[in-house]
Amino acid sequence: MITSKSLLVIAAAGVVALGAYFALRPALQQQANATAQPGAFVVPALSAEAQEGERYYNAVCAACHGQNGQGTAQGPALVNDIYNPGHHGDEAFQSAARNGVQAHHWRFGNMPPQQVTGAEVARIVAYIRELQQANGIVTRPHNM
Ligand code: HEC
Repeated sequence: MITSKSLLVIAAAGVVALGAYFALRPALQQQANATAQPGAFVVPALSAEAQEGERYYNAVCAACHGQNGQGTAQGPALVNDIYNPGHHGDEAFQSAARNGVQAHHWRFGNMPPQQVTGAEVARIVAYIRELQQANGIVTRPHNM
């Protein structure tokens, strides 16, 4: 026999299920979006070294090179095929941070030298390389 107590239990279970559905819905929708846009920018799961690099990058480089290396009006995207490891090896990053860069690829102007250590730049490079790799940018020999 259905008592008012068991009705209450059924109603409560319904509320919990509905709550779970609405709590999970954004995640499910995000998943759907990720598969719906094959060309979308990918932010991969980062190694510990790259996570450290991300912190230095956000503090020092992101103002010009943008969040996740996607560029701003002040500087180019570093997650760009032109900065693949074959064309701009790790030393190009060290040199850019240490000495700055004379504008040559773009029209953003010069990059001034940055206040970072070589070890910090090495972490930043690890971060940029993981972003590049996740977005299909692979080493290509420089033959320009
Ligand atoms: C004030 C803005 C600014 C900041 C801050 C900045 N950059 Fe740049 N960077 C630029 C611009 C502009 C260029 C493009 C120059 C060109 O080739 O025309 C550039 C180019 C580069 C290049 C390409 C160098 C080459 O050989 O062509 C690298 C690598 C780079 N930046 C790394 C970094 C890193 C790493 C940081 C943080 C430590 C950083 N940048 C911070 C503006 C900036």
